[in-house]
Amino acid sequence: MFGHSDFGNSDLINMLTKKTIILGVTGGIAAYKSCTLASRLKDLGAEVWVVMTDAATKLVGPQTFRTLTGNPVVTDLFSQEIANLPVPHISLAEKADLIVIAPATANIIGKIAYGIADDALTTIVMASRAKKLIAPAMNANMWRNQIVKDNVRKLNEHDFHFVGPVKGKLACGEDDMGRMSEPEEIIEKIEELLKPNADLAGKTFLITAGGTREAIDPIRFIGNRSSGKMGFALAEAAAARGAKVILISAPTSLTPPETVTMINVISAKDMYEAVMKHRHDQDVIIMAAAAADFRPKITFWQKVKKDRDGLQLELANTVDILKDLGNLKNGSKLIGFAVETENLEENAREKLQKKNLDLIVANDTAAFESDSSQVKLIDRTGNVEDLPELPKKEAAHRILDAILRL
Ligand SMILES: Cc1cc2nc3c(=O)[nH]c(=O)nc-3n(C[C@H](O)[C@H](O)[C@H](O)COP(=O)(O)O)c2cc1C
Repeated sequence: MFGHSDFGNSDLINMLTKKTIILGVTGGIAAYKSCTLASRLKDLGAEVWVVMTDAATKLVGPQTFRTLTGNPVVTDLFSQEIANLPVPHISLAEKADLIVIAPATANIIGKIAYGIADDALTTIVMASRAKKLIAPAMNANMWRNQIVKDNVRKLNEHDFHFVGPVKGKLACGEDDMGRMSEPEEIIEKIEELLKPNADLAGKTFLITAGGTREAIDPIRFIGNRSSGKMGFALAEAAAARGAKVILISAPTSLTPPETVTMINVISAKDMYEAVMKHRHDQDVIIMAAAAADFRPKITFWQKVKKDRDGLQLELANTVDILKDLGNLKNGSKLIGFAVETENLEENAREKLQKKNLDLIVANDTAAFESDSSQVKLIDRTGNVEDLPELPKKEAAHRILDAILRL
């Protein structure tokens, strides 16, 4: 075990706190060192799930990892031990912030490089979008084998990260290349990969979210299908990247991120007032909210009784928040959203020009209430970036990347 002096950095402790790390252990003799790795990750605040290959279980007992991590150890996707997880490989794959495979045999590297998913570890790796780190350990001739080299290159191209191997005493007795990096080096690499990107540090963001409610009477309103998920995801992502964020939201069922200043509003008029009050000195204003375009011309003071012969509502236009922001623009980057049922790109381009926006995010209606969305990003130079369907949290980061390029 390491003394605390090896890991005395409190930032590091914060970095790993509440992070879910899957530790894949494969059939290399260095598997015994992964017990130290699991234990240190746990001490540093991470939730650690160990997934072992069959060969690994011949070298270290799963019970050791179970005791060290306090979690079930996955050796078989069909085992009773993890039967309480809905679909074990998907649940674990989605839970993970990072997957580290240490030690990684020549065999697992080859299997992943060729898309094989024939056991718990390879299946979880294949199903996960988390960052992946591989700590190879093998005999020097294996490491120098051109096939292994090709597989490592292929994984590098697919965004797998590597730590080691290093030169040192190998299990076969030789002093050569192929020894697994020490656990502290692996932890440093994990820390580097999990370090939040601070590229928005010092920037101020005003973001709106949710669908406004336009009152008919004290009980009823005209609303829309916006869930607020995109705006909340943008606020959380911008704050995670160091920005100071004000989130102005219409009613949603979402929990606001603790890292943002939250302002709750109900109607488009409330939102207009809040936006106008806070728009000054913002580097970026993102109107992700679905502010109503129409409101009842008259709001009844008392509940409208149902024993009447129908009810005619006359609608009036609401204030156009984006248009006024575009007219008043004074140094902020202004980002709008477009949702259309037809001619999405054409209508989005028109809105970009008309409202004096710097970037427009064009969505189709399938994005409403969903956890994922497929958007097009269109800027003033006519540049169009077509993003694939992504979870909104990931799409939020890609939108922020595009804003940084403006
Ligand atoms: C004692 C022992 C130590 C081994 N150490 C390694 C190793 O360090 N690296 C490696 O690539 N294979 C090593 N092997 C061979 C792997 O265990 C073997 O290729 C196995 O099929 C790997 O399966 P896995 O990748 O599913 O764990 C070792 C085998 C034995 C018996």
